[in-house]
Amino acid sequence: MARIFSGIQPSGELHIGNYLGAVKNWVQLQATHPGAIYCVVDYHAITGAYDPAVLRARRWGMAKSLLAAGIDPVLSALFMQSDVPEHTELSWIFTTITPLGDLERQTQFKDKSSKMESIPAGLLMYPVLQSADILLYRADRVPVGEDQIQHLELARDTARKWNAKFGVEYFPEPKPLLTPARRIMGLDGNAKMSKSLGNTIGLLESDEEIWQKLRPAVTDPQRVRKSDPGRPDVCNIYQLHKAFSVESTQEHVAEQCRTAGWGCMDCKKVLLEGMVQELTPIRRRSEALDAEPARVLDALADGARAARGIAQETLGEVREVMGLNAVAVPTG
Ligand code: TYM
Repeated sequence: MARIFSGIQPSGELHIGNYLGAVKNWVQLQATHPGAIYCVVDYHAITGAYDPAVLRARRWGMAKSLLAAGIDPVLSALFMQSDVPEHTELSWIFTTITPLGDLERQTQFKDKSSKMESIPAGLLMYPVLQSADILLYRADRVPVGEDQIQHLELARDTARKWNAKFGVEYFPEPKPLLTPARRIMGLDGNAKMSKSLGNTIGLLESDEEIWQKLRPAVTDPQRVRKSDPGRPDVCNIYQLHKAFSVESTQEHVAEQCRTAGWGCMDCKKVLLEGMVQELTPIRRRSEALDAEPARVLDALADGARAARGIAQETLGEVREVMGLNAVAVPTG
């Protein structure tokens, strides 16, 4: 059976972008792939300036909201990357076979580094650590959103290069598992929904908070007056209907938009209903975890133990293949 691995930055509570693009899929995959491995990648989160107290709170917030969203610690291993030191160990090994040019070509590196005066080497090495995250568990399926495709290509190159260099078929080539919601746009309709851009709807926000964000959210720019017919396919709100509303509602909404039967506010109100339906149980579970924080800590400890068992096995085999396992007197 395919081994599933994925990771997420500790950005605090989930938002509907990373939830719909990746985490909802993580939850669903548990039914068919028990033993999936999900990691909060805290070492990835320290490549820029940050406040340790904020990071501490966000690691907690992310672990709690993953459990609230439906990650089940009985079925999957959920853990903090920095609790399994083999991630950084394998990452160093991979830096020795990764061409510098491949790292400099990564879109995320180019975007982020272009805004910096002094570029930390960790930002360049970021995708090497990501390859190590995946290959440490010899995972072959990685549920992610569209923005991670380039990093996964690099992980496949790394697996191929290492196997070729040492003449073994050891690491599989990990492939992305995408959802229909592979790229959720922010409420401004211009850029990907992302915490750092401040254009998100948090998974744990109240109905009222969600409505205050939905109300001014961008729709089809050609629809200036209520009587103008709209184009569901270019409207960001319709994309969210596809994720949160049942199929019959989606069809009705699209029809009302095209014929200008409804205004955008009507459409947004129906979207809110769908969102409340899906998000209320998640919010309830989050409140229950707030009341019993030991459940989060226990899940992370169990997850780290399970992950570390696999990670140590892989590292042992990798060291052996690479001539790093034992000191022996050379023969011959
Ligand atoms: P991160 O933390 O930015 O995002 C976590 C996951 O959510 C997806 N995602 C989205 N999908 C659709 N629309 C959006 N607006 C949106 N925002 C986020 C991302 O594609 C991702 O799947 N580098 C990774 C973390 C990582 C990782 C890994 C992932 C580290 N090691 C190993 C997979 C395997 C990142 O920053 O994701």
